Amino acid sequence: MAVERTLSIIKPDAVAKNHIGEIYARFEAAGLRVVASKMMRLSDVVAGGFYAEHKERPFFPALIEFMTSGPVVVQVLEGENAVATNRELMGATNPQEAEAGTIRADFASSIDANAVHGSDSTTSAAREIAYFFASSDICDRD
Ligand code: TYD
Ligand code: MG
Repeated sequence: MAVERTLSIIKPDAVAKNHIGEIYARFEAAGLRVVASKMMRLSDVVAGGFYAEHKERPFFPALIEFMTSGPVVVQVLEGENAVATNRELMGATNPQEAEAGTIRADFASSIDANAVHGSDSTTSAAREIAYFFASSDICDRD
C-alpha cells in the first residue's frame, strides 16, 4: 500500500461544538499522522476557491456562508491509503446516511454542516494541500 497525504478540514460546526480533539483522536487511532495543521478563518474568496468545483451547484452560496461562519482547523494527514482511509473515517456526505461510528454520523447534524472535509482523490489532495500549505509547512514524521 502507498503512503499518501490528504487534506482534511474540521469545519465550523465541529470546532464550535469542541470536537477538535475527538476528531484528531480518530485520525491517530486509524494510523493517520497529522503532518501539518492550522486554525484559521476562511474568507469568502478562500472558501470559494477551495470549493471551485461546486461553483455552479445550488448549495454553493450556503456552503460558502457556512465555511466562513467560524474558525476551521485545516490539516494534512499522512499514512497508508490516507485519502480512502480518511473518507472511511468521515462517512457519507449526508450524516443521515453515514455509517455508525463515522465522524459525520457521530458529530454532524445536517448535509450542509457535516463536521469535516476530506480530499476525494490523490489528485484533489495534491491541489488542496498546496492550496493551504507551503511544502515547508509540512513536517516529516518518519
Ligand atoms: P461534496 O464534495 O459532494 O461532499 P464531500 O464533502 O463528502 O466530499 O460536497 C462538498 C460539500 O458541499 C459537502 O461536504 C456539503 C456541501 N453539500 C451540500 O450542502 N449539499 C449537497 O447536496 C451536497 C452534495 C454537498
Ligand atoms: Mg468533496
